[in-house]
Amino acid sequence: MATEQMKQSMSEAEKVLYKAYNRYQVMFERGDGVRLYDTDGTEYLDFFAGIAVNALGYHYPGYDEALKAQIDKFQHISNYFYNPPALSAGEKLLKASQMDKVFFTNSGTEAVEGALKIARRYAYDKNGDSSQYEIIAMDHSFHGRSMGALSVTGKEAYRAPFEPLIPGIRFATFNDLDSVKAQITDKTCGIIVEPIQGEGGIYPATDEFLKGLRKLADEHDFILIFDEIQCGMGRSGKYFAWQYSGVKPDVLTVAKALGNGVPIGAFLTSGKGNTTLKPGDHGTTYGGNPFVCAAADAVLTIMEKDDILKNVNETGAYLKEKLEGLKAKHPHIVDIRGKGMMYGVEFDISVNPIINRALLDEHIVLINAGTNILRIIPALIVTKEVVDEAIEKIDRAITAEEQANA
Ligand SMILES: Cc1ncc(COP(=O)(O)O)c(C=O)c1O
Repeated sequence: MATEQMKQSMSEAEKVLYKAYNRYQVMFERGDGVRLYDTDGTEYLDFFAGIAVNALGYHYPGYDEALKAQIDKFQHISNYFYNPPALSAGEKLLKASQMDKVFFTNSGTEAVEGALKIARRYAYDKNGDSSQYEIIAMDHSFHGRSMGALSVTGKEAYRAPFEPLIPGIRFATFNDLDSVKAQITDKTCGIIVEPIQGEGGIYPATDEFLKGLRKLADEHDFILIFDEIQCGMGRSGKYFAWQYSGVKPDVLTVAKALGNGVPIGAFLTSGKGNTTLKPGDHGTTYGGNPFVCAAADAVLTIMEKDDILKNVNETGAYLKEKLEGLKAKHPHIVDIRGKGMMYGVEFDISVNPIINRALLDEHIVLINAGTNILRIIPALIVTKEVVDEAIEKIDRAITAEEQANA
């Protein structure tokens, strides 16, 4: 139970902060490893990870030190100048992603904006006019909240209040190549897809689907965009989920775990995407400043040095096994999907009451992906012991909810 003091602080925050979120009844003050502490000092196990951002948890050795060292130099200059952290982070990100060029952004949605502009600009260069402007996106996709990214987001409820959005967006069925083919016209300039859909409910794309998209993009000469803002940076068990299929996109979007909480995203290009945007076509004041790039550089250094992918694969397999155990025990669980450290546990009931019980009674922070799906996206550094602890807590929260409804 929250103390009167925390309750009062939360009600004051409600008066100040724009109510764009229904917030959980807790005010967090600090983190340590994979634990969070509220303003009353109560400890919580963090399986929310800032929505797949805090891949290294809180205060991972070497991360804070890198940020502090950069603050002592400078935090911002401008993209009109070269700076060492952008070079260093850029080199490491290109190596991990196997892409050729990087443009750093402030967020995921801005990375998507840049990717969409590349698709449009590529066709504009080819035709000398704007006649080829349509983009194919997927049902149940999520690409962000800015107007362009929202236009290609599959959830109608997110888009409807803000119509008209950008014109020429056609939606196809995820993992159904024929449905994509049906949307291709002579105006198509690009396709955008998440190799593992995140917000939509943790649905991995099949290799055949991604291969088919690559073939279509080559045959029709348009841009293939993979959005790995959620499933990238090691979460799938490889640096990027496309690496399972070997299907390389022309543009790859990244954010979330890239800065481990410092706001940085990126769009990366390969092949025909490399020189599409010309000086003056695109820009950002803050994007890729030395401070945020020092964070990305530290994350990429640590991931390599401490072989974080090994843990994602080993502990991720263990996590999946434990989740299957929960499914065997609880008939309301109907499916488990995902890879690495990214799973969707689908129920035939709403998961929100379970998440609330887990938070308030079990002190574990969880997140959903839609009404019926529990999204399991902990820090990539969780150990098997931490997984055991989490599974026990989740198990008890589900049992309590089942008993309450019996
Ligand atoms: C796949 C995907 N793309 C884009 C975004 C938007 O990123 P941001 O919230 O940083 O703008 C998200 C955020 O959840 C995402 O999961």
